[in-house]
Amino acid sequence: MHVYSLPFSLMSNTDIHILAIESSCDETAAAVICNGKVVSNIVHSQAIHEIYGGVVPELASRAHQQQIVPTVNQALTAANISKAALKAVAFTQGPGLLGALLVGACFAKAFAFGLDIPLIAVHHIRAHVLANFIDGDGPEFPFLCLVASGGHTQLILVHDYTTMELLGQTQDDAIGEAYDKMAKIMGFPYPGGPLIDQYAATGDASKFQFPITNMPGLDFSFSGIKAAFMRFIQRHTQEEPNFIAYNCADICASIQQTLVRMLLTKVEKAMLETGLTSIAVGGGVAANQGLQQALKQLATAKQWTYYIPTKAYCTDNAAMIAMAAHHQYINHQFAAWDTNVQPNMPL
Ligand code: KG4
Ligand code: ZN
Repeated sequence: MHVYSLPFSLMSNTDIHILAIESSCDETAAAVICNGKVVSNIVHSQAIHEIYGGVVPELASRAHQQQIVPTVNQALTAANISKAALKAVAFTQGPGLLGALLVGACFAKAFAFGLDIPLIAVHHIRAHVLANFIDGDGPEFPFLCLVASGGHTQLILVHDYTTMELLGQTQDDAIGEAYDKMAKIMGFPYPGGPLIDQYAATGDASKFQFPITNMPGLDFSFSGIKAAFMRFIQRHTQEEPNFIAYNCADICASIQQTLVRMLLTKVEKAMLETGLTSIAVGGGVAANQGLQQALKQLATAKQWTYYIPTKAYCTDNAAMIAMAAHHQYINHQFAAWDTNVQPNMPL
């Protein structure tokens, strides 16, 4: 990230309004933040991928191109501010899909250049962490954050708004990816993670057992359980073609309990090793009710304080990009005009 000296206009005491754009995957989103408070948050979820059972990158890029102008306009209107009031434009630099990221980056660059205001490049996962500061004051530093999404599963030691350290991560599938693939095996539409969560609420979690992969250290692995789940479904549907229909809630509750246990085992280990007493979560899977309940129970038993963003700030949104941008703005972390997107951007 490049840093350049502030234009004179930014040194005044006037309100810091920032427009933020998120386009890393299949949500086209825009938000406005004013002095660290989110004042508008518009998310357009792309429905086109549903029939393909997963995100089709080329279709995502095209849908972003169609949606970005109306989404940004809606965010500005909802915030009730003019473009002239903006102090900076932020965009998601990575990680994410190359073409999807490029749409947001190109739009943000043109918009900021036209308004003669600086550009801020935001890391998507860091933004998921900072979503914990949107609803209220958020956790005190340092704290541990579990980011569990469709593309990532990471344990992050958060020193402050802009200093974060990766402690462990998945070595294969992300937790959300595993959820969606298991849901697909069960015949649910994409994304199936929330449906497994929904059915799990009424099921018996002790009905079926699944093998847990325990990775060394603070890393995760979800490819083994996904393969085991596929074999489990194949075996049972050969014996009883209506196996899924008859046992839907119990299957969902059992697999969900196993996945949640895999996540929280590592959370507990990380908390013990770091001596931290504050835990936060982020990413789409953080919206999972089973995970939230189990986390609350564990935190209460261990006397940790816990933070869970509201659902709209767990799944992909631009409010979190705006929150990250606000802190980068304060720290004068601006991006040069030739800043490129990074599909595999490291933390
Ligand atoms: O953070 P996110 O919106 O996008 C990425 O950055 O990946 O996460 C999307 C993922 C999807 O895999 C979706 O199935 C999962 O989050 N998800 C859930 C739930 N809500 C969203 N998984 C399980 N239970 C939920 N309630
Ligand atoms: Zn995300």
